[in-house]
Amino acid sequence: MTRCDQTTAWKKLGEHFNAQGKSFDARIAFALDAERVSTLSQTAPHIFADLSKNRIDAATEALLMQLARECGLEAQRDAMLTGEAINSTEGRAVLHTLLRQKLHIAGVGSAQSAINSGVNADKLQDVHSVLSAMLTYAETIRADDEITDVVNIGIGGSDLGPAMATIALDEFVTPKKRFHFVSNIDGHELAATLKTLKAKNTLFLIASKTFTTIETMTNAQSAKAWFTAQGGTDTARHFAALTTNVKAANEFGITTTFGFWDWVGGRYSLWSAIGLPLAIAIGADNFRQFLNGAAEMDAHFATAPLEKNLPVRLGLLDVWYRNFHGFTSRCVAPYHSALRRFPAYLQQLEMESNGKRVDKGGQALPFHTSPVVWGEPGTNGQHAFFQMLHQGTEVIPLEFIAVKRAAHSMLDHHTKLLANAIAQSQAFLQGKVSEDGHRHFPGNRPSSFFVLDELTPASLGALIALYEHRVFVSGAIWGINSFDQFGVELGKVLAKDVEARLHSGNVLSVDASTAALITKLK
Ligand code: F6P
Repeated sequence: MTRCDQTTAWKKLGEHFNAQGKSFDARIAFALDAERVSTLSQTAPHIFADLSKNRIDAATEALLMQLARECGLEAQRDAMLTGEAINSTEGRAVLHTLLRQKLHIAGVGSAQSAINSGVNADKLQDVHSVLSAMLTYAETIRADDEITDVVNIGIGGSDLGPAMATIALDEFVTPKKRFHFVSNIDGHELAATLKTLKAKNTLFLIASKTFTTIETMTNAQSAKAWFTAQGGTDTARHFAALTTNVKAANEFGITTTFGFWDWVGGRYSLWSAIGLPLAIAIGADNFRQFLNGAAEMDAHFATAPLEKNLPVRLGLLDVWYRNFHGFTSRCVAPYHSALRRFPAYLQQLEMESNGKRVDKGGQALPFHTSPVVWGEPGTNGQHAFFQMLHQGTEVIPLEFIAVKRAAHSMLDHHTKLLANAIAQSQAFLQGKVSEDGHRHFPGNRPSSFFVLDELTPASLGALIALYEHRVFVSGAIWGINSFDQFGVELGKVLAKDVEARLHSGNVLSVDASTAALITKLK
């Protein structure tokens, strides 16, 4: 594997940027090339992507593809899919794709299935036995009218995925139950949730890969104390744990457990037992559809030629923007309110994965990695931060996600919504010339436009898998380990020390600012 900056393509991309990329104007490119939309569009399972309003053309993409090949992207991808220990700092395989693999291989996607399940047949059997058990359990809970409230207690990957997907698939969620997601150690969150609950009607799902995370353990202890104080006794019925650390869950007093494995990263765990709240919400059949949609995207990623491979094209576009144009952030604007937590989900997926400053060998990188990823649903964002995107001093590429068919019957709303999405992408491209600087829109502001026909379990699964693979692609080009997260450790350790100091008031040998804050907040 060659790191991107040591390739010939990297040098050529730098020259190409100086010669053409820097001054590239997509409006001129459209005028010169009648085929631009078809060349720069890509259909992938459940998703159509129009990339034509970006600052790329065939020459740029050709160099990016050369970069991918020189970095051994295909070999790196196959190493992930076949279960090599590509998470080198932790010596682990990265096999979230196995979680959505069918047990019996047939039809579309079989090439990737064969790569994956051939080598990992035992793991795949384990995946399916937990999946069957958890889906049977999900159906039992769905049929249990006495359980009216399901509370997921977890944080990061043990919260963002299931919370985002349960909101996104609201149309498929049983109306017979309410779903709550408690993540923060801030007691206001748990207290506000508990206020609305009765112990005999509540199921707590304690979701934690490690079963050691301080937020989750603190919330779980308080939930258990509340349950007991309410007269609850049957923990086997009212608590279940979703974890790789079944022993710790048992020691905590939970006997109903659904396991997963260290080769599933936290931010990639929605497809495992961590998906149980979603499975209860949408039911076993829909959950399987959700897995199938992701598996279709996996097959596309594994088998489509690089030039026609959507996650590859997007990951390379990210590298082009981050390292050559120097764009520092990317805005994701879903034009569907059910996708309102999608940007938050992507923040962990992308920034925890690729927010790294050293390569796989531990060498400091001489180039930038993850951009800041952020966003809000349209049209709300239009009336908040779009001003900066249209007329601010920084160029921030945008990603529109539109869904063709609405799940409601107010078609007038939906037409207006879609019109706004299209019009905004048009405005970012075209701009508007005015003598008056205040009223001048420079235009040529890049955006991608994704279209889903409908927001269903399958299309959501494909959409999430698309982003997972795209993040993999940029991480592979940068030569970093996208699957560890040591950056979150230091703050955790220091918090323990500060917690003790908040009890004791001892501020000896801490910096002056920290000492002052401890004294103020004690
Ligand atoms: O923030 C670090 C992290 O380890 C994430 O990667 C993970 O998703 C989250 O904490 C929660 O971890 P766990 O599922 O082990 O409680």
